[in-house]
Amino acid sequence: MQEIILELEEKRTKARLGGGKPRIDAQHGKGKLAARERIDLLLDPGSFEEWDMFMEHRCVDFGMADSRVPGDGVVTGYGTINGRLVFVFSQDFTVFGGSLSEAHAEKICKIMDKAMQVGAPVIGLNDSGGARIQEGVASLAGYAEVFQRNVMASGVVPQISLIMGPCAGGAVYSPAMTDFIFMVKDSSYMFVTGPEVVKTVTHEEVTHEELGGALTHVSKSGVADLAFENDVESLLQLRRFMDFLPSSNREKPPQRPTNDPADRIDMSLDTLIPNNTNKPYDMKELIVKMVDEGDFFELASNYAKNMITGFARMEGSTVGIVANQPMSLAGCLDIDSSRKGARFVRFCDCFNIPIITLVDVPGFMPGTAQEYGGIIKHGAKLLYAFAEATVPKITIITRKAYGGAYDVMSSKHLRGDVNFAWPSAEIAVMGPKGAVEIIFRQDMNDRAKIIERTEEYRSKFANPFVAGSRGFIDDVIMPNSTRKRVCRSLHMLKDKELTNPWRKHGNIPL
Ligand code: HXC
Repeated sequence: MQEIILELEEKRTKARLGGGKPRIDAQHGKGKLAARERIDLLLDPGSFEEWDMFMEHRCVDFGMADSRVPGDGVVTGYGTINGRLVFVFSQDFTVFGGSLSEAHAEKICKIMDKAMQVGAPVIGLNDSGGARIQEGVASLAGYAEVFQRNVMASGVVPQISLIMGPCAGGAVYSPAMTDFIFMVKDSSYMFVTGPEVVKTVTHEEVTHEELGGALTHVSKSGVADLAFENDVESLLQLRRFMDFLPSSNREKPPQRPTNDPADRIDMSLDTLIPNNTNKPYDMKELIVKMVDEGDFFELASNYAKNMITGFARMEGSTVGIVANQPMSLAGCLDIDSSRKGARFVRFCDCFNIPIITLVDVPGFMPGTAQEYGGIIKHGAKLLYAFAEATVPKITIITRKAYGGAYDVMSSKHLRGDVNFAWPSAEIAVMGPKGAVEIIFRQDMNDRAKIIERTEEYRSKFANPFVAGSRGFIDDVIMPNSTRKRVCRSLHMLKDKELTNPWRKHGNIPL
């Protein structure tokens, strides 16, 4: 017995070393933590239960029979984050460059299967050279097994990817199918084909960083949600992020005690909207002043800035915030902002997170770039997402709500549960100037008449009362009381039940 215990300890020590001390030192030299160090930072101290520490690859080609490393390049298991269960895999770049073998894939699949059965999130810490080249199609099969599980787990348990090193080729498609992708600046990259292939095929010269670094994906492609400075900051932010999420689609959002009174009034909001309706203001000010303790976890903050998305809490319970940002492109809806908003709304709806929508939208962005890029289909994504969502939906129109964009932004007609407007709201088919230019085109040369007509249109439509008289707005509220009114509404809606008709699945315009 004693002998076997000693052997066990020896095996554990070997497995914990992964690819060996020199390779761990090399990893540190690149400013990266080792796979187990990352797990230690992510999870509550002492909570990690590791599985398959002794699993090895089965490849015998290209000299692989003599080079087996226990664990085979990925550390898997479960633990807790602030006491809540999560499953995790952490690819170990020190073992065959973290490349994915058949056994490596089996380990990931095992935790994904269990996470779905017990209803807990899956977090992937990706740091891998891709398919284990020596294993050929067995490795590709392993990827596909993971992909299939990503799809089956979608909408069942939250899936989060933190890219902490290379992630290239078809390997990108597993993170791509997870709910959120975070990246580490300067040490991670994601692309389907690397700079060398790009140069051969398109003659473009581009660096790894330019092609698929963290800044590229959080600002240009929108593939990643956020980029963090280094491994430590990423893992700590990921812990903070996980606190907002329910563990599965069977759960309500997590509740956390708060000292912020639900009936807190904020008088400064009464002057947030400028007198000049074309002047921008920062919608984030409203968000921060409305939510518990000003704690807002914004997502995709560098991409499609005309649409703000993120998580916060109201009376301790998670809410999703979707808001137009007048500071960027006047808050209009375009291709990128529609896609960004739609994906976020769908995540909230999958996981029972109420959605608070803050509206100040002049309409859809005009232009050939938008039309040729398919704004019709992309805008429809946001419309579809809001319309199919059955979670509690609260909408506040702060200023403009014009045209189709009024309908799209969680209007009453898309089953908005509580729709408020501030006194400054303007709800109409279009702004007064544009409207008068069309319906009184014959008077365009008569300046006095046009001014008169514009004023007439403004006083008739540029207010919340017409919509209010039709019941499209439940109440016109004072900006200072926004938090109080939203908290009450959420309270009223907490046991809301609404189901969509049975179907295999809808056909969202992709
Ligand atoms: C086997 C691999 C490997 C891989 C790296 N290694 N990638 N072993 N299969 N895919 C090994 C290296 O041989 C090396 O072993 C060790 O990991 C560290 O790699 P280095 O090259 O020394 O590290 P670095 O200079 O940091 O470069 C990292 C890298 C590079 C950019 C990831 O290793 C690389 O280009 N690897 C190949 C990437 C690739 O083409 N993968 C297949 C993509 S196709 P030693 O023992 O020498 O230190 C794909 C398809 C997926 O993934 C399809 C899914 C559907």
